[in-house]
Amino acid sequence: MRIIKSVAAMQRLARGWQRAGTRVGFVPTMGYLHAGHMSLVQRARRLTGRGGKVAVSIYVNPTQFGPQEDLSRYPRDFARDVRLCREAGVDVIFAPDNAQMYPGAGADKFSTFVSEGELSRSMEGQSRPTHFRGVTTVVAKLFNIVQPDVAVFGSKDYQQAAIVKRMARDLNFPLKIVVAPTVREADGLAMSSRNKYLTGDLRAQALVLWRSLQQARVAVREAARPIPAARLKAELKRLIECAPAARLDYAEFFDPVTLVPVSGVTRGTHLALAVFIGKTRLIDNTQL
Ligand code: PAF
Repeated sequence: MRIIKSVAAMQRLARGWQRAGTRVGFVPTMGYLHAGHMSLVQRARRLTGRGGKVAVSIYVNPTQFGPQEDLSRYPRDFARDVRLCREAGVDVIFAPDNAQMYPGAGADKFSTFVSEGELSRSMEGQSRPTHFRGVTTVVAKLFNIVQPDVAVFGSKDYQQAAIVKRMARDLNFPLKIVVAPTVREADGLAMSSRNKYLTGDLRAQALVLWRSLQQARVAVREAARPIPAARLKAELKRLIECAPAARLDYAEFFDPVTLVPVSGVTRGTHLALAVFIGKTRLIDNTQL
């Protein structure tokens, strides 16, 4: 397994793969890898097949963090990430630093951005106004550097995956975006690098996200007609905020393709949640 830190070296390798007709699968990450990431790697491996290559990027992208967010304390363990990637048969880790990714004046003064203007307005886009512009910019840059045939994203970040798909379509990136299922702990908590922040009884309180998704699913399956979204949101807020450290940021019911909010919730409606557990903001979602 190679570890590449420079953009030029990664692009050279990618061009070589392309000339040789090698199929390349790509998993972009911010590191601190867990079983959820590794399932994306396995999916990329299956999609590229024998003779294909799998590249994983590890880069905590500053432009997708707001000024009050956890950029400086975001969990990092590069040695462990390298070990997990090696064990999973990854061919290349691309691990640039900020000077490589935001050359010149740096991320703060970077002046060229990619922004998606429709799907990114709601939910995460409303709570974290500059977040998706940072994501689409860095993902576009990573696609130009790694030049994959297929890139795999996790559906825990459902809105992100939809936006990346739209960006790839709109800007003619010659690759396929695959969205893989959320991997959960045995008790239902969605795997996330930020779960590391859940110390003491916060870990148990975080289960309120999973319980809320389950409760909404049961309600929808038992209902004979559409349930008013406003009523379900109020019920979820009550349930969530029974956990003393939990505060609901948003609960949104929406069409899974257009991401447009719905007023009546039925089977097939998508539910996304963002909840603060203490200072840690967690997201999760499911199709009902
Ligand atoms: O989902 C993530 O980890 C990040 O948003 C991504 C896609 C690696 C871009 O920095």
